[in-house]
Amino acid sequence: MKKVLINFAHPAKSRSKVNKALLKAVTGLEGVTVNDLYANYPDFMIDIEREKQLCEAHDIIIFQHPFYWYSSPAIVKEWMDLVLEHGWAYGSNGKALTGKVILQALSTGGDGSSYQADGYNQFTLKELTSPLQATAKLCGLIWLPPFAVTGVHRGLGTEKTNEYALDYKQTITALRDSLINLEEAKQLERLNTNLNQLIQEH
Ligand SMILES: Cc1cc2nc3c(=O)[nH]c(=O)nc-3n(C[C@H](O)[C@H](O)[C@H](O)COP(=O)(O)O)c2cc1C
Repeated sequence: MKKVLINFAHPAKSRSKVNKALLKAVTGLEGVTVNDLYANYPDFMIDIEREKQLCEAHDIIIFQHPFYWYSSPAIVKEWMDLVLEHGWAYGSNGKALTGKVILQALSTGGDGSSYQADGYNQFTLKELTSPLQATAKLCGLIWLPPFAVTGVHRGLGTEKTNEYALDYKQTITALRDSLINLEEAKQLERLNTNLNQLIQEH
């Protein structure tokens, strides 16, 4: 069983609907650690050694957050800037992350259809999350496309939110239990495009 680290980043968790529901669905699962970045570092004073140890102790690293300005809430960038040190994450002696899996789980206000070349957001989510893809390559990580909840601005409603939360739980447990073909997953636009096809029970 693989160990999953969820680096959760929401600056206003008490007002969150989607991310809070998703997080609830995976909290307490065996092999899954939730690391709430804003709760742990309200002053942005990230404990670099603690974060490195957490990464080293897990096989799959997930950044879960709402999509903010086509990116993430600021603490995720701060985390990247501070934790991914030369000689640890990258460089000729920086092999700490090699072979681990990394992905984003994100929610967008915009509809799914707005994230395409002729949509008002112009670019796909896969394109917009390419900075993490490039970072992953430099650090020897295996990058997967984002698990995405879209169309939040229109109001998802309880039923749809619960559906996404169940999908998220299924995805996290499948990653933990190595039930996802990573090569196939890499080709997808979003990890949760067709979960039943992606997850191979055996
Ligand atoms: C500062 C800020 C920036 C945002 N930027 C985007 C964006 O670039 N694209 C988008 O689709 N939604 C954007 N949104 C909407 C959020 O993604 C949306 O409110 C969030 O996913 C809802 O999740 P929650 O219920 O967990 O808060 C933004 C919201 C805020 C507050």
